[in-house]
Amino acid sequence: MFRIGKEEIKAIENVLLSGKVFRYGIGGECARFEERYAEYLGVKHCLMTSSGTTALTAALVGQNIGPGAEVLVPACTYIATAIAVLAAGAIPVIVDVDESITISPAAIEKAIGPRTKAVIPVHMWGMPCDMDAIMAIAQKHNLIVIEDACQCVGGGYKGRKAGSIGHASGFSFNYYKNMTAGEGGAVVTNDDAAVGRMGCMVDCCKFYWTDRQTDESLFVSNGARASEIEGAILNVQLDRIDGMLDIMRGYKKRILAALADTGLQPVKANSLDHEAGTHVMFVLPSEAQATKFQQLAGSGIAGKTGRHVYTEWDPIFAHRGAPYDALNPYLMEANLGCRMDYRKDMCAASLGILNRTAMFGLHPDRTESEIDQLVERIRKAAAQVL
Ligand SMILES: Cc1ncc(COP(=O)(O)O)c(C=O)c1O
Repeated sequence: MFRIGKEEIKAIENVLLSGKVFRYGIGGECARFEERYAEYLGVKHCLMTSSGTTALTAALVGQNIGPGAEVLVPACTYIATAIAVLAAGAIPVIVDVDESITISPAAIEKAIGPRTKAVIPVHMWGMPCDMDAIMAIAQKHNLIVIEDACQCVGGGYKGRKAGSIGHASGFSFNYYKNMTAGEGGAVVTNDDAAVGRMGCMVDCCKFYWTDRQTDESLFVSNGARASEIEGAILNVQLDRIDGMLDIMRGYKKRILAALADTGLQPVKANSLDHEAGTHVMFVLPSEAQATKFQQLAGSGIAGKTGRHVYTEWDPIFAHRGAPYDALNPYLMEANLGCRMDYRKDMCAASLGILNRTAMFGLHPDRTESEIDQLVERIRKAAAQVL
């Protein structure tokens, strides 16, 4: 879900004609975006990266999460959430989602073991997790909270922006996201002490181009530097995001109100007034009803997108956590005490919810009459299915 057009073309043209496409030494588009995005979110630090995956990895490493640590991840998220944990050398432990289809606070508390050091709440399909409950549990058990806000760019939770609540957070600007530069990402934090390590993960050669000082936080990592072209596109997209989300939130509320008398049960919202509004979802009483509803209403099914449920995470199930055995977190001595026994039925409660959840994607370019038609289609399907 995004809008892209002539303003982006102009912004790219300006960068190309200036000849300054490398981000350092010019105080250009990337630096401007980082400053503006941090201000937009209400956080102290923002670093642009090449992807959401590298952003989450940098967020984890910034908080010193690595070998020896278990990190709780939800049963419903893109595999990249778990990949970021492995890229940091830690082990992902998969826990249930609840009726909000985001990570269950009760399941987090139940899953905490002696090795658990962090949790990654993922704000799926524009809908924020129950952050009050999650932050309270984290405080009680001394856990680091890394928000995966990749699918919730611009969305919020009770008046605060998604990604501004935990210890650090990752955003994606890939093709499917609310703002896009084709690819891209950002890692953010309020933690001054984390910035050096996060910066090393994003671009460990940065010191050549900025301030070359021997810094004890320096280490080697893969590069994930963003280009001025990405910065230019995202500066335009940032001007647009709030207006787009306002329209979608409005559409979502209108759809839910118009269907309130149908007996359809909307997915539990943790913050309806502040979420991104990109998706409308209903939980049907049974999987058979959800399948029939899908056919009649033309919806998707949250559990059957083919890539957002843990059962699809093939390399994780195979414990192939790195290209070489010696680098594979699943084989590292430091991780031997971590829980890594994945089974396809381990989060059966989540599968039960996700396979009954019908979803419709929204877009700000949909017209009012298209929304009315969608409502009618859903209403007719509900009448036949319930
Ligand atoms: C929830 C979630 N986390 C992480 C990512 C990873 O983002 P990227 O593809 O930019 O690496 C995605 C991307 O689709 C995502 O949806």
